[in-house]
Amino acid sequence: MREKRFKTRSVEGTLALGQTIAEILRPPMLVILRGEVGAGKTTLVKGIAAALGAAVEEDVTSPTFTLVHEYKNERVHLFHLDLYRLETEEQIAVLGLEEMMTEPNALVLVEWGERFESVVRLAQGEIAMEQGEGDDRMLQVKWVS
Ligand SMILES: Nc1ncnc2c1ncn2[C@@H]1O[C@H](COP(=O)(O)OP(=O)(O)O)[C@@H](O)[C@H]1O
Ligand SMILES: [Mg+2]
Repeated sequence: MREKRFKTRSVEGTLALGQTIAEILRPPMLVILRGEVGAGKTTLVKGIAAALGAAVEEDVTSPTFTLVHEYKNERVHLFHLDLYRLETEEQIAVLGLEEMMTEPNALVLVEWGERFESVVRLAQGEIAMEQGEGDDRMLQVKWVS
């Protein structure tokens, strides 16, 4: 496991950090995004998607109700999941995470993935986000290189 820490002080800073993190992550890869509601997980996904040219920031919204959003170009096949509303491993099983991982250039970013053992087992990385004072956010990125 490699590890890097970052701090941002604004939404713009977190969006920009998406570029740095996009360069660290090497598809095919599943990464868990952890942190409380409002930590900035979805904002970071916007930044990563924009950095990879997969989607413009405005088009990346929270998949809280739809569970999974998908963005694709020649560089990356990005899957953005939010498992906040799910409770059981049975609900996870039908999402087809393994199938997503077999897509060329798959990058699977999973909010609240740490709550499910099956997701933890598939993960090659984790980004933990923590809210500091005001708009400050601390990030810890861990990944298998
Ligand atoms: N540095 C920052 N990075 C990310 N979001 C921030 C930051 N400062 C304030 N915010 C606010 O925090 C919220 C983060 O929301 P969101 O990205 O949806 O979080 P999550 O997906 O973790 O619930 C937004 O309302 C955003 O405007
Ligand atoms: Mg979110």
